[in-house]
Amino acid sequence: MPTLGYLGFGVSDLAAWEGFATGVLGLSRARTLPDGGFSLRMDGHAERFHIVPGGDDLVHMGWDCGNAAGLSAVVDRLTAAGITVTEDAALAKARRVTRLLRCTDPDGVPTELFFGPTLSEEAFTSPVVPSGFVADALGLGHIVLSSTDRDASWRFYVELLGFRLSDHIVCEFYGHPVNLSFFHAPSDGSAPSRHHTLAFGGPQRKRLHHFMMEVGELEDVGKAYDRAIQARVPIMQTLGRHPNDRMLSFYALTPSQFQFEFGWGGRLIDGTDWSTTTYDRISDWGHHPPAVVAPRRKK
Ligand SMILES: [Fe+2]
Repeated sequence: MPTLGYLGFGVSDLAAWEGFATGVLGLSRARTLPDGGFSLRMDGHAERFHIVPGGDDLVHMGWDCGNAAGLSAVVDRLTAAGITVTEDAALAKARRVTRLLRCTDPDGVPTELFFGPTLSEEAFTSPVVPSGFVADALGLGHIVLSSTDRDASWRFYVELLGFRLSDHIVCEFYGHPVNLSFFHAPSDGSAPSRHHTLAFGGPQRKRLHHFMMEVGELEDVGKAYDRAIQARVPIMQTLGRHPNDRMLSFYALTPSQFQFEFGWGGRLIDGTDWSTTTYDRISDWGHHPPAVVAPRRKK
C-alpha cells in the first residue's frame, strides 16, 4: 500500500473524451458527475477515472491505503512532517469511499488518501477489450508525474506515502535526456505489487506525462493500437517493451494532450529480495516515435 485508486482529469472536451475513453481505451461510462463530468470503470471498482471540465491535465489522484490503519499510518507521517492533511467527509461521499483525507503533493497536485472504495455489483466487461484490464487489487495502473524538485518528490512519495524504489532509467531518447525513478507499493506479503505504480522525472509540460492501463492478453494491445490508429489518435511511441517492468506497450495522446500507455505483461514484485538498478535505455526494443519509423519519402 498505497495502490493507485483513481485519477481525475480536467478536460476541455468532455464529448471527445467520452468517445475516446469508451471507443479507443475500452473503458465504460459509470455515471454523470455533479459538475457535469462523468466517471469511468475498468474493473470491479465502481469508478476509476473522473473526467471533469477543466484545463487538460491531472486534477486529482486517489491513493488507496487499504484500511483504516494504513490510512492512519500515512496521515500520521504526513502530519509529523508538517504537511497539512484535511479530513473531507463530503469528498469521501462524492468519491464513494469510506474515509478520505486530502493534501497536495510537492508539485501542487491534489492528493486524496482513502480506504474503502465502492465496488460495483456488476462485473466489468468491455466490448473492445475482451480480456479485461489487469487492475482490482493491483490498482488502476501506473502514472508518471512531472517533478520540479526531485528531493521533495522523493521525501513525499517514499518517506511519507511509503513507496519503495524499483529502479531508475537514465539515458537519452532521440535527443531528449531521460532521468526517471520508478516506485512500487510495498507488499504486505499477501499479494504482489506492480513493478511500479508511480514514476517521476524532471519538469515536464503537464503534471502527468502518462497513465498506464494493462490488459489481460497481448492481442488486446494490438487491437487497441489499431483502434487508436483508426481513430487518428496521435501515436507517440510504437509498440515496444520496457527493460524494467517488461511491459509490452504503445503510447499515444489523449484528447487532453497528455499520454496514455496501453500494455500487457507487466512484471510484479513480491516485496522480498528486490535490488535496485539503473537502466541505460527506455526500451529493449520498439517504443520509437512514428516519425522515425516512417520518414517522409523524398519526392
Ligand atoms: Fe509507463
